[in-house]
Amino acid sequence: MVRRAARVDAGPILELVTPYAAQGLMLPRTLQEIATRIDNYVVAVDAGGHVVACAALEEYSPSLAEVSSVAVDPAHQGQGLGSQVVLGVERLARARDIEELFALSLTDKFFLSLTYEPTTISRYPEKLARYDTLSRSGVEIVPKRCFQKTLGKSWTAPQLVEQSVVVSKKRKIG
Ligand SMILES: CC(C)(COP(=O)(O)OP(=O)(O)OC[C@H]1O[C@@H](n2cnc3c(N)ncnc32)[C@H](O)[C@@H]1OP(=O)(O)O)[C@@H](O)C(=O)NCCC(=O)NCCS
Repeated sequence: MVRRAARVDAGPILELVTPYAAQGLMLPRTLQEIATRIDNYVVAVDAGGHVVACAALEEYSPSLAEVSSVAVDPAHQGQGLGSQVVLGVERLARARDIEELFALSLTDKFFLSLTYEPTTISRYPEKLARYDTLSRSGVEIVPKRCFQKTLGKSWTAPQLVEQSVVVSKKRKIG
């Protein structure tokens, strides 16, 4: 099941992203950073309720945000969960009236499969400025490719969680 993250998910999210951050695949996060921004996270949980995937919406302005911290537990990769948490973040972005999303990745195919388009990071000076600050504080920044997606006004993401269909029985009149 894919759902918005709750405060209790902060620890499991940290466990999920830390090994990938150590490989330079995403920026490192602290427990406090995740907990204070928990409203920006979407998680996928398995049947036992364990967090097996996550992604976050990182807002840069009222109309621009990054899809960040996309991570799937190694044992659960290749099952569509990465795609589902990104779609969850897109829904969150749309609900907040964000018009443009960007993402950085070493993997081309993942964001292309989600209909993102290749672009250049120079389009996002806000991100470059953040990289600059992190770099000066000693965080190693691994160069990645940049992708973007415009969420048009009529855009709606597919439903993520299966919803039981309520079939209304029409009353016969007459
Ligand atoms: C990248 C990652 C998030 C993908 O999650 P996933 O649940 O395995 O991906 P999905 O099953 O939703 O796959 C969606 C598409 O992306 C492709 N894809 C997934 N992982 C890929 C990878 N590592 N390299 C190339 N393509 C990949 C799949 O082939 C699939 O394409 P298809 O629909 O044409 O078959 C996951 O492998 C992961 O956590 N990687 C380590 C962390 C990381 O690199 N995070 C940054 C990601 S941008």
